[in-house]
Amino acid sequence: MTQLNRLSLQNFRNCESAQFNFSSGLNLIVGDNAAGKTAIIEAIWLLASGRSFRSQQSKQLIRHHTDNCVMFAEIISSHNTEQVQKVGIQKSLEQTNLRMDGETVKTHGPIAKSLPVQLLTPESHKLLEEGPKIRRQFMDWGCFHQSEEFILCWRHYQKALKQRNHALKKKLPQDQVQLWDSALVENALKIDAIRQAYLSELEPYLVTFCQALMPEIEIEEACQYRAGWPKNTEDLLKLYQLNYTKDSQLGHTQYGSHRADIRFKFAQQEAINVLSRGQQKLFVCALLLAQASLHEKVLNEPVIMLIDDLPAELDEAHRHKLLELLQILKIQHIITSTSMQLIPILNSETTRVWTIAGGSIEQI
Ligand SMILES: Nc1ncnc2c1ncn2[C@@H]1O[C@H](COP(=O)(O)OP(=O)(O)OP(=O)(O)O)[C@@H](O)[C@H]1O
Ligand SMILES: [Mg+2]
Repeated sequence: MTQLNRLSLQNFRNCESAQFNFSSGLNLIVGDNAAGKTAIIEAIWLLASGRSFRSQQSKQLIRHHTDNCVMFAEIISSHNTEQVQKVGIQKSLEQTNLRMDGETVKTHGPIAKSLPVQLLTPESHKLLEEGPKIRRQFMDWGCFHQSEEFILCWRHYQKALKQRNHALKKKLPQDQVQLWDSALVENALKIDAIRQAYLSELEPYLVTFCQALMPEIEIEEACQYRAGWPKNTEDLLKLYQLNYTKDSQLGHTQYGSHRADIRFKFAQQEAINVLSRGQQKLFVCALLLAQASLHEKVLNEPVIMLIDDLPAELDEAHRHKLLELLQILKIQHIITSTSMQLIPILNSETTRVWTIAGGSIEQI
């Protein structure tokens, strides 16, 4: 199974130095407010995704009065348990160095592929509340892991979009704007097909986990995918041509994969209008569990789930239910809490607990 075996941190946030030897089941990190719990989750997420969920600036991540931070992890692969992969990130104010098995890597893609990590934080309900970017990130996480083609199409698309928007903004001649249309269309259609296929595979899992976590809610068709252009569009290239004048007035490209979205509906109504705050959090849990199960089915490897401040997320019964599902699905989970009493230990053999205070950790 894919497992985060070891984690080592240096000068990350308030943590001078920490080493974790994780178990395959529940890994619980307990500490008071400001102890450094979120920092640990943030460091793992940064290793897995290449970015923090709290701050874009390296300065904030590096421990005060030091000049660089290091995150290093050992991953055991699901396909070859003998094989240990080593991944690391070193960040200074000026640069970021990525390492994988002793070699420098240029992009974060290979590290992200080998470390499929999902994240639940007290902010996760924003997936329903905020703009479409966070929902696209959710959907594209799955597309990235399941489709070899996706990342290439996405890079080509982004490049064409950037050039087209640059030409629009600088008011360059029409032919220099439209030069990019065919690359945009070609890649948008591929991205669209991958996203649609992904969501239709995900949907039955989502229904199952919604029923497990919120049996009180009736759910039929939960996801409605929006491509990023009008539904009845038959010819995307023509749409770009027809919208050239509007695009040049706006100074950017209106339609495309960068505008895609997912709408979540219950009984014909937007999820956000029907679900309580707690139910919204449960719905996000169901989305992540659905994604984890589909990932396991397609790639034959489990994901690793990070949950920051679990008690802030869910009440006692739902905490129990979620932990039970994680155990049944054999998902390694790394969870933080301000109190140990709030986390039921369902299997002591696969559980490890640490306390954290002032950035220093101790295993108990
Ligand atoms: N670059 C940094 N250098 C040193 N300390 C930092 C740095 N960035 C943040 N901190 C401090 O690290 C501490 C830990 O923050 P963190 O958010 O990880 O705590 P937490 O245990 O998750 O707290 P809470 O329970 O309130 O969510 C905070 O006191 C914060 O001020
Ligand atoms: Mg925190």
